[in-house]
Amino acid sequence: MYKTHTCGELRQEHIGQEVTLAGWVHRRRDHGGVVFIDLRDRYGVTQTVINPDLPQEVLDLVTDVRFEWVLQISGRVRQRPEGNENPRMATGAIEIVASQMVVLNPAKTLPFMVSTENEEADENTRLKYRYLDLRRERMKRNILLRHEVVLFMRKYLSERGFIEIETPVLFKTTPEGARDYLVPSRVYPGQFYALPQSPQQLKQLLMVAGMDRYFQIARCFRDEDQRGDRQPEFTQLDLEMSFVERDDVLALIEELYTALISAVAPHKKLLAAPWPKLTHAEAVSRFGVDKPDLRFGMELTDVGDLFTNSDFAVFRSALSDGGMIKCIVAPGCAEYTRRELDKLTEYVKELGAKGLVSLGLAAEGPKGSGAKHIAEAEITELQKRTGAQTGDLLLFVADTPRIVHKVLGALRNRFRDALHLADKDVMAFVWVVDFPMFEWQEEDKKWDAAHHAFTMPRMDHLDRFDTDPGSILSDAYDMVCNGYEMASGSIRIHRRDIQSKVFHLLGIEEEEAQYKFGHMLEAFEYGAPPHGGIAPGIDRLVMLLADEPNIREVIAFPKNSGARDVMADAPSYADEKQLKELHIKLDL
Ligand code: AMO
Repeated sequence: MYKTHTCGELRQEHIGQEVTLAGWVHRRRDHGGVVFIDLRDRYGVTQTVINPDLPQEVLDLVTDVRFEWVLQISGRVRQRPEGNENPRMATGAIEIVASQMVVLNPAKTLPFMVSTENEEADENTRLKYRYLDLRRERMKRNILLRHEVVLFMRKYLSERGFIEIETPVLFKTTPEGARDYLVPSRVYPGQFYALPQSPQQLKQLLMVAGMDRYFQIARCFRDEDQRGDRQPEFTQLDLEMSFVERDDVLALIEELYTALISAVAPHKKLLAAPWPKLTHAEAVSRFGVDKPDLRFGMELTDVGDLFTNSDFAVFRSALSDGGMIKCIVAPGCAEYTRRELDKLTEYVKELGAKGLVSLGLAAEGPKGSGAKHIAEAEITELQKRTGAQTGDLLLFVADTPRIVHKVLGALRNRFRDALHLADKDVMAFVWVVDFPMFEWQEEDKKWDAAHHAFTMPRMDHLDRFDTDPGSILSDAYDMVCNGYEMASGSIRIHRRDIQSKVFHLLGIEEEEAQYKFGHMLEAFEYGAPPHGGIAPGIDRLVMLLADEPNIREVIAFPKNSGARDVMADAPSYADEKQLKELHIKLDL
């Protein structure tokens, strides 16, 4: 038996007992001949005192002991001497007087400290030695929280009649808007499996199979640009239900998340119950983005009508080109310096705006690039409309609706961070509904599915396929929280004729549709029930619950921002023999 207790377990009631602990050397202190070793495992840290009466060969070993050696220590539990208690440690009332110590394994000098949280190593070093990084309190907490989250989901859904079903990872293209990861087949020269970007098709086929309520903690694979909230492989709570409408799916998820958060992160406050719903058009119009952060105000205000006869060329020409003018109010920023305003202008130009008009409502009078072009009466009206007060800064963008919303939406989030407008302990969930079905891709001159090709268009919009596809709304929905897209879902097409219509508009002709999705189309002809579902991202949820800035911090072995596994150094070259077996010749 390696140990009688964990390193987080011993309390006053154990005083007097003989115990054995095993773990890592968290700290070692030498206090005038008396050596203290703090031993750590997943459960906590326990202080041990090395008894100077131990045999000399053990005491010699103690001198050698360094950080992160693996030790087994036996001894008697005793009350810490008065004044030495540590109320911040769960085991802080006691210590162990060691009567024996065994070195189970020494450790090399560490690339970074495990025991001191504040000493930040650079991220690539942390990822290269991820197994050491995971020993640290912060990482351990995140991984445990992730476990709690997944456990809660499994239990909650199982209790409500959902069954967890595994779907294949070696499959066929399941597009969600990214590139596929391909796996060459040895047995079928020139053919490839695709790793699913989500189990979308498979879960729909499970509905055709009559499974009724499915879920899976599913790994998804997407070859796309990396960001703080994106990894090449990530995990979804993938879910599908038969005979449901949109609000059935939303209600289930809302109840699950409300119960989940109160169980695993009770310090987090939900902003509203029931969660608000915004149409896609309203979200973009009011917040500039389809994933609004509702923890703070600063909504966009349309002020174009105030400037139809303006002599300010920037405003006038935007309007005459069919564009719009909107503004946001940055509270208390009227006194921004020229340099600060120039920086904001640079930022919006990077986002594609021609410029930024500023109007600081300073006590001594209006300031900024708009001051000499915006009349007093207009300022009064602007204040009335936006609620801007003396001391505030108004920022205007005059451009196409796409640019106005993109730029002001991004500026709004930038001010959130700069002015600390959002409480990190608030989870502001909101449903965004009524998405457009299709998005026009100007570069490729073609329509793309805004959600995915299996999303049901609104039935009353079916006649617009030939006339005005851009105006077709779909039965798709997003769950948004604090500015992140946390989940997406939709009611699906279950009729073959509608599916064909959608493929046709997306430029997927019958032959290609058969080749890629023939199994789906055929299945729809064997009695597919009406169905719908959703897939919340688990990494993003845990990231928010753990107050982490990116999802790498809540994944045990993530890829770095360049999509590499720096620990195992993957991707890596395959050897000649493997390539030959796979019928692959490299063209580098
Ligand atoms: P979607 O592509 O919107 O929908 O993905 C659903 C959710 O998965 C998470 N997510 C990611 N998380 C980390 N890294 C990524 N690269 C990444 N990509 C997506 C997000 C997102 O909201 N099959 C549909 C769902 C459905 O219709 O049921 C789908 O995959 O939280």
